Amino acid sequence: MEILHVSAECYPVAKAGGLGDVVGALPKYLTEAGHINKVVMPMYRTKFLYENKWEVVHKSSAYLGNTWFDYTIIKETTNKLGFDLYLVDINGLLDREKIYGYADDTERFTSFQIAVVDWLSSWKHRPDILHVHDHHTALIPFMVKYCYQYSHLEDIPTVLTIHNAQYQGWMDWSKSDYIPHWDGWRWGILDWNNMINPLAAGIRSAWKVTTVSWSYLYEMRQDSNGLEALFEYEKGKCAGIINGIDSDVWNPETDSYLTDHYSIDSLAAGKRANKEALCAEFNLNPDKPLFVFIGRLVGEKAADLLPRAIGDSLYYIDQRMNFLVLGSGETHVEQELENMRSYWMGFYNSKIGYNEQLSHRMYAGADFLLMPSRVEPCGLNQLYAMRYGTVPVVRRTGGLRDTVIDIGEPGGYGISFNNASVGDITHGVYRAVELYEDQLRFDGIRRKLMELDFGWDVSAKQYIDLYKSLLP
Ligand code: ADP
Ligand code: GLC
Repeated sequence: MEILHVSAECYPVAKAGGLGDVVGALPKYLTEAGHINKVVMPMYRTKFLYENKWEVVHKSSAYLGNTWFDYTIIKETTNKLGFDLYLVDINGLLDREKIYGYADDTERFTSFQIAVVDWLSSWKHRPDILHVHDHHTALIPFMVKYCYQYSHLEDIPTVLTIHNAQYQGWMDWSKSDYIPHWDGWRWGILDWNNMINPLAAGIRSAWKVTTVSWSYLYEMRQDSNGLEALFEYEKGKCAGIINGIDSDVWNPETDSYLTDHYSIDSLAAGKRANKEALCAEFNLNPDKPLFVFIGRLVGEKAADLLPRAIGDSLYYIDQRMNFLVLGSGETHVEQELENMRSYWMGFYNSKIGYNEQLSHRMYAGADFLLMPSRVEPCGLNQLYAMRYGTVPVVRRTGGLRDTVIDIGEPGGYGISFNNASVGDITHGVYRAVELYEDQLRFDGIRRKLMELDFGWDVSAKQYIDLYKSLLP
């Protein structure tokens, strides 16, 4: 089969979070399973672009509403990611450093999708499957079905994977002419609560919809930022496939960001060396359990609860632990996390920003990873942490529920709690400290974590079965 993935992110080209990791890894593992994979994404101005060789494969123009724009498709020449990588350049819209967060994101991602469909319609052969990811690409299943100019593509099966239903790409109806001349009778497919809702349109138009864990698939029917009724109605075409991790990139034996490598046989010494380096850098005490948080500082991740949960833990659990936070997001959370540094100096530190290298060193050097998420469709952090022998302390939600078994349950290896609240987080920290202080048990749990397999093989096979079910 030939699968064309369309996404706003793909590691290592451009990544803001887990979407990038998944689109960087899934095509690679599908290729290893014997299929042809191509990834197409916007040509942002990232380091990867300047450090690699490219050839132009297509140039053309299209309309976004009344605006005529030129687009160029370039291809990486060496196939270094293990699949064909294409970038779409649109001057004035995609030629930016950041992936998201601009006032004209609607124009940027709509024109990107138009360029992809326009390019596809000029191909001599077709992919067998068109796999789109999240709302930035979710208008494509609509476009190939209902835009007159592209309707000859309508028999290509489309799969939409929802990595996060919180963001839906809402557009005002005044922008409906952005979508190339489409069958007006189908306005109801675009509409949700008097707005154009690209994610809703994708759910209705795609042949199959998947999301990234079984629990999140179920939770979306109860809570998905307004789309609950749609998920209930469309449940017959939806499936949950848990994400895997790229074990070539995330491997403590070979990780290029680490200076002290380790395997299960050198676990204790290896983690200690990483922890000491991290603690020296951030003025923390390596003899105490080290809790880390890595992620976007937003409500979904319950990052707003961190300052109080950390303060309460240090205060009520007698400073028996240290904390280190890495992340960026809402300004008031960033500020609070920075301000706490002087008060809890020696017990707590934070690094505000995005730092891929530091994140790897934190997974390796930490004893515990905190993830109190309010919403977590899958979550990759806990999977990386476990691969590095770091015990996850998580809220039971979405993919965290599906991948972490509490140590109080048979076969358990993590710490789980029910509510995204300061009290539950602090209690989780308390249980973790108790575990840490029972050194024998703690070591046994860490060994067990490193033996777990969260690789892509099983999930890649599930995607393959799903694709096959759509072919004639
Ligand atoms: P989400 O995609 O919702 O942000 P995931 O758990 O799926 O959450 O994936 C987050 C990914 O982004 C992980 O690879 C994590 O290590 C990385 N990440 C998040 N914030 C940062 C940061 N500030 N610096 C470096 N890496 C980060
Ligand atoms: C989203 C989700 C996260 C998931 C990631 C990759 O960003 O928030 O839970 O792991 O996508 O699927």
